[in-house]
Amino acid sequence: MAKKFTAIERLECSLCGKSYDPFEIQNLCQCGGSLVARYDLEEAKENMDKRNMSKRVLSPWRYHELLPLRDPRNIVTLGEGMTPLLQMKHLGEKLGLKDLMIKNEGMNPTGTFKARGATAGVSKAKELGIESVTVPTNGNAGAAWATYAARAGMESYIIMPRNGPEIARKEITAAGSHAYLVDGRITDANVISEQLNQDYGIFNAATLKEPYRLEGKKTMGLEIMEQLDWEPPDVIAFPTGGGVGLVGIYKAIRELNEMGWIHDSKTRMVCVQAAGCAPITEAWEKKERESVMWEESDTVAFGMNVPKSKGDFMVLESLYSSGGYATSVDDNDILSTKQMITKEEGLFACPEGSSAVAGIKKLLDQGFIDPSDKVIVLNTGSGLKYPDTVRTLMPLLQPGDEISIEIEENQES
Ligand SMILES: Cc1ncc(COP(=O)(O)O)c(C=O)c1O
Ligand SMILES: [Zn+2]
Repeated sequence: MAKKFTAIERLECSLCGKSYDPFEIQNLCQCGGSLVARYDLEEAKENMDKRNMSKRVLSPWRYHELLPLRDPRNIVTLGEGMTPLLQMKHLGEKLGLKDLMIKNEGMNPTGTFKARGATAGVSKAKELGIESVTVPTNGNAGAAWATYAARAGMESYIIMPRNGPEIARKEITAAGSHAYLVDGRITDANVISEQLNQDYGIFNAATLKEPYRLEGKKTMGLEIMEQLDWEPPDVIAFPTGGGVGLVGIYKAIRELNEMGWIHDSKTRMVCVQAAGCAPITEAWEKKERESVMWEESDTVAFGMNVPKSKGDFMVLESLYSSGGYATSVDDNDILSTKQMITKEEGLFACPEGSSAVAGIKKLLDQGFIDPSDKVIVLNTGSGLKYPDTVRTLMPLLQPGDEISIEIEENQES
């Protein structure tokens, strides 16, 4: 029998456990729970060889057995994934960490890790014959879905808060999306997407109402493990909004563990949130299983401005069962860390990724992380998407002007 492209078996409700067919269009379970992809991991193991993964295509689709697509002809790709895992020697020394690495997701199409969710979600939507999608977004996911939908020849309806980033609006508009602003937060955008679904039958691809973004984000975890030669690190830190990135990485660890590809699931997951929107961190500190809606949320790291996540309980479960931690950092700390990362390592990080580095520093100070730990931080996007977070002070010169050395050192503040 020919080898199957995917080893997906079913979708399972994260609340009641009910199974659904992954080859039919699905949103939520009847009970309202999110559906999560489950695979025949024995079958995946038979068809994959961990020592030969590098011979496969240079794309997250190299892990196709662990992704939901039946037919490779439905793959919609813009060259996402396979992002570099960079050693951060100087930054590590500065923070007091021997072995710090950053996985630079800013290298993705549309400049963020959201491209991974979009390649999985749009490809699967294409396979299922879906012709139009709606996505509520803080900006980055909308940009990714609008461009991948354009590539697939699909209509997209992107809804974002009116104070969302200009750059994402431009990407979404350039991709020919039907784009709308909402006078509110992502939770309000969610309601409008739901309305479009009810009134016009447009497929609602909101996080965790659509089962496959999670699978795309899972590929960050698969790549990290492959890049580390299947030796799990001590800590993985993720800047958390809805939390699907963190849950996806932990899902990869669990699946690889079950396949016997990694033998020690010692990795502690770390959730870092912005102090201006930290519902999951607050819930973790109180040892709760769910978070409470964060009123008046605000942060410069707009991707993390999610006042109440549908997947909060999954993030918390990942933290509890990995022995991980949650923390929060304020915007000043985020911006000064952003500058430090760029200055120490030349990596122009996004505020979200910078917050994860700032969070690591805090946990080192608190003794949760040991200086000898191997720590991986996800820089989830490119600093180029956040031009307004850097203040420049560049004195104007004419040829022949005297140049004092202080001018160079104080170029930026
Ligand atoms: C750059 C960036 N980092 C992190 C996040 C948060 O990701 P998640 O919602 O998976 O927690 C987002 C979400 O929009 C983002 O755009
Ligand atoms: Zn259910």
